[in-house]
Amino acid sequence: MKKIEAVVPAARLDRAFAALKELDLGGFTYYDSKGRGQIPRQEVHSGRGTGMYRPEFNVNSTIVVVTKDSMADKVIDKILQSTSTGLAGEGKIFVSDVDEAIDIGSRQRGEGAL
Ligand SMILES: Nc1ncnc2c1ncn2[C@@H]1O[C@H](COP(=O)(O)OP(=O)(O)OP(=O)(O)O)[C@@H](O)[C@H]1O
Ligand SMILES: [Mg+2]
Repeated sequence: MKKIEAVVPAARLDRAFAALKELDLGGFTYYDSKGRGQIPRQEVHSGRGTGMYRPEFNVNSTIVVVTKDSMADKVIDKILQSTSTGLAGEGKIFVSDVDEAIDIGSRQRGEGAL
């Protein structure tokens, strides 16, 4: 099994979810996250008076999908198709091996738990 973690701008979460729903996945999770890359963030209006400030962090969503190995590339393709426009700063996808999954209700293990 593989775990695919995608950090994307929060505004692109809905598009990524819509794309992932087209696949036959057991489920997926997201959480609100903040982070930073290497490129300095754009200055924005502070909302108070005329001041500008440079936010420390990007507001992101992290999507987590655990899937059987044969689906991993399809998940990655869906996330890329729905969130990449070819620019810098659009986020990252990380892929790692998952040793075990356990469905809490049925106590089923392995791919059957997904
Ligand atoms: N190495 C990393 N590990 C964990 N999270 C990262 C890593 N790099 C980037 N991120 C996350 O991805 C978000 C977007 O970063 P990204 O790397 O896309 O932007 P960038 O560094 O400004 O531009 P570039 O596309 O050139 O790398 C960051 O806000 C951060 O949350
Ligand atoms: Mg970067």
